Amino acid sequence: MTFITDIVNRNVHESEVSAIKEMAMLSAGVPGAVSLAWGLPSFRTPEYIRQGIKDILDTDEHAGKYTLPDGLPELRQEVVKIHQQKTGIKVDADKHVMIGAGNMQSLNTLFHTMLDPCDEIILTDPCFASHIQQIKVFNGVPVYWPLNEENNWALDIEKLPSLITDKTQAIVLVSPSNPSGKIFTKEELIKVGEIAKAHNIFVIIDDPYSDFVYENTEKYFNLASVEEFREHVIYLYSFSKSYAMSGWRLSYMILPEELKHEAIKVHDATMICAPRISQLAGIVALSQPSKHKQEFQRILLSRRNLIEERLNRVSHIFKSQKPEGAYYVFPKIVAEHKNSKEFALDLLFNAKVTVTPGSSFGPSGEHHVRMAYCVHEDMINLAFDRIEEYFL
Ligand SMILES: Cc1ncc(COP(=O)(O)O)c(C=O)c1O
Repeated sequence: MTFITDIVNRNVHESEVSAIKEMAMLSAGVPGAVSLAWGLPSFRTPEYIRQGIKDILDTDEHAGKYTLPDGLPELRQEVVKIHQQKTGIKVDADKHVMIGAGNMQSLNTLFHTMLDPCDEIILTDPCFASHIQQIKVFNGVPVYWPLNEENNWALDIEKLPSLITDKTQAIVLVSPSNPSGKIFTKEELIKVGEIAKAHNIFVIIDDPYSDFVYENTEKYFNLASVEEFREHVIYLYSFSKSYAMSGWRLSYMILPEELKHEAIKVHDATMICAPRISQLAGIVALSQPSKHKQEFQRILLSRRNLIEERLNRVSHIFKSQKPEGAYYVFPKIVAEHKNSKEFALDLLFNAKVTVTPGSSFGPSGEHHVRMAYCVHEDMINLAFDRIEEYFL
């Protein structure tokens, strides 16, 4: 123990960089490794956005400056329009919209705003690994809401009320889900909304993937479209995946007026504003037709079908469920193994294939791995050729 360990906040010291990034870093040290670990799509930011921002840089003399903490008014107006198109709900750009630097940053702002030490946030189990860390870093306690694989990872509504205590602040939902690819049903989501309202807690919808639903357009339901839950639902939309803008760091958040008033203090104190250049790109992205989304869906659907086919060929190693959306598959390891971490390390160092150990997505994720199929098809094929050869 050094004086630095002494100085560093205990929760920060005890937390770790997410297994997704840990595997990505380890993978970088293995020459020729094929990675299915990181949900980083192969797509380039669409041409209309790149071209639009070039023009803006040449003509807008303010492009390099700060914005208001909650973001450029023009972008917030675009958000109001698109949110109404998607949900039918009319929000106010000044009262309810906050621009963030990615959903991770918006979530950090929310957790920072909500959590007193030992306050609780309910996470589905499995859940997105980084949510667990974020809550811990802000001195909160993640409470796991176990989902059952036999029930296709559906929400276990009956269990939910028993997890709520006087320390619970919110339930976080991701649909389509990372890591399972599951889309939660309208009925389930409405019940979660009713329970949250009855207990006066929030439902936080972290939404990077609603544009990737393949044949399940009808199944996808956005809880932010229910008027009755407006005061209890916080909706976070990320540009990272749908607009292939992960490096631009851009997102928006729709939240109740009173909460925005509190959250903006945190946002201002921690980052002043999301980068203006990215906000300007966001205006271009939202104000013009986003034709690329259909193309992204078409390519991802083909990749999903490919990975399913390859997984079915190795049923002695993995047992998988067909993902309904996003671009992850979360198979159970049926080959002999100790735990998902050791399995993933073995696969990396001996077969040169990188996957993320399921245990990092919560206790129910143990004995699974997450594979991201947002990479080119030849990468998916190469990864599975190597897996087949290794487990001969
Ligand atoms: C569920 C979930 N939330 C948030 C993020 C990060 O989003 P952003 O790039 O908007 O911070 C990801 C990225 O993989 C994700 O899967």
